[in-house]
This record gives sequence, C-alpha cells and structure tokens, in this order.
Amino acid sequence: MGFPHNTHGGLAINQQASSKGKPEIRTFDDLEQLSWAAATRFEEQARVKAIDKKPFCAALSGGSTPKLLYELLGSQTFGGRVRWTNVQLFQVDERCVPPDDAQSNYRMIRQALIEPSPLPEENFHRMAAESPDREHAAREYAEDLASALKPAPGQWPQFDLIFLGMGPDGHTASLFPESAALGEHTAWVVPNFAPKLNSHRLTLTFPVLNAAAHVIFLIAGADKADTLHQVLNGPAGKFPAQLIQPTHGRLSWFIEKSAAGKLSGKLEIGN
Ligand code: 6PG
Repeated sequence: MGFPHNTHGGLAINQQASSKGKPEIRTFDDLEQLSWAAATRFEEQARVKAIDKKPFCAALSGGSTPKLLYELLGSQTFGGRVRWTNVQLFQVDERCVPPDDAQSNYRMIRQALIEPSPLPEENFHRMAAESPDREHAAREYAEDLASALKPAPGQWPQFDLIFLGMGPDGHTASLFPESAALGEHTAWVVPNFAPKLNSHRLTLTFPVLNAAAHVIFLIAGADKADTLHQVLNGPAGKFPAQLIQPTHGRLSWFIEKSAAGKLSGKLEIGN
C-alpha cells in the first residue's frame, strides 16, 4: 500500500500542549496523514526507550481507524526504523470471539502488523478473550501486565504509549456508556458487556489507561464529529472518552478532518 511521503500531518490546528494538562490536538487532511503522524510518534518514543535500554510497552486498540497505522508500522518503511526486539505490544481490549474471527481485534493487528513486521511473536501479548471463563482470562492478562510492566507494589502498570479510538457514542476501549466497567477502579483488566452491541468484551480499565505516559486518541469519520465536539468542549462527564485524563502522562488527539467538522479553532477541554 502506498503511503504518503514523510509528511507531518495536515491542517493547521496543531495546538501543542500549551501547558501541563492541556491535550495536544492535531487535525489531518486524511487518515493516511493521521496514521503517518501516529506511526512517527510511536517510532520516536520507541527509539528513546531503546536508547535508555528499556522496553517500549505500547497498548493497541482495535476497530477500523488504527488499521492503517498498524499496516504502516508493519511495513518496510518502519521495519528498519523501530528496534522491534525492544518493543512489547499489548491489547487495549478484545471482543470475546476466537482469535481468527473476523471480529477479533487480534486478528486485525496480526494481519496488519505482527505478521509483516520483525516483532518477535512472544513480544505480542494477546488477550485470550475467547475463553469461556472471562473473569479468569482478565486475571491472566493482568498477571501478564504485571510481569511485563513490573509496577511497584500498589502502583498501576504504566504503558509508555496507548492508542485509543472512540465510537460515535463516546465509548473508548471497551468502556461503553452505561456499562459496568465504567465504575471499575481496582482491577486492571475486566470483562465488560456492551449492551447496544450485545457484545462481551475484555478491556483495560480507566486507572490503567490513565496511568500511561502518553495516550493518543485516533479519531476519524464524520459520524464522530458531533460527539467529539461535546467530548472536547464539555459538559464533562457525559461520555466515557472524557474520563481519559492521564494522571501524569500526556494526552493527544489526532483527528481526521471530517471528524473535526464541528470543532472551532479555540477548544476548551471538558474536564
Ligand atoms: C474496539 C475498539 C474500540 C474502537 C472504537 C472506534 O474493540 O472496537 O477498541 O474502542 O477504538 O469503537 O472504532 P473505529 O476505529 O472502528 O471507529
């Protein structure tokens, strides 16, 4: 797949985080430029950790928006730019289906990134969401997080980077409006049921997502423009995506132009 030359993203609204706590908001002409910018951010951060001789731990969402990003990361363009032996990849969430099911996030990530890239197989940490015992599968994934991220006792596991998406209903990860996991503030990984989709999921919880050093939302599609306007301009507390507020880390929104259709030049972030 041909990707744009090394451009650094489209439209002007490139509001770097002006001060701690204010998210970075960037809009892009199209999904390819957004994906290129996100892949470049991944590469830059992975390089810093390789220099520090520390593993680079990132968590990937599913859905359709990040597919191009994962294909770019799996392409030869980034094959030689990232020290993949130093990268550990995890899942943000997963549908409770077999790993070869068309609905599986793992299947999409495997085809787009894992298979074509030099990433060692054992460096991808899959959620076994197909398990009939979803609680056990969630506990097992939490144990995998503990052994890989090695948080200090009583601390949340901290990812270097998490890519999140957002649905038109304002959900992120598999944290859906009116779902039980919205109120989970102890477990790291939980099963969750998406009522409107009639779909069982496994998902990382808000405390883990908010412990990350950097969270980047990737948002594309005009169907998200209304919700994104409300998420970024308030009122607060209406959508799950508004509860992504990294405790110490950085928050970025990479927005494809049609999803930015309702955003004004000056943005107030709904806290
Ligand atoms: C999933 C994702 C989910 C996704 C949003 C946006 O399992 O579906 O993790 O949270 O990020 O639903 O999906 P799109 O990118 O397809 O719009």
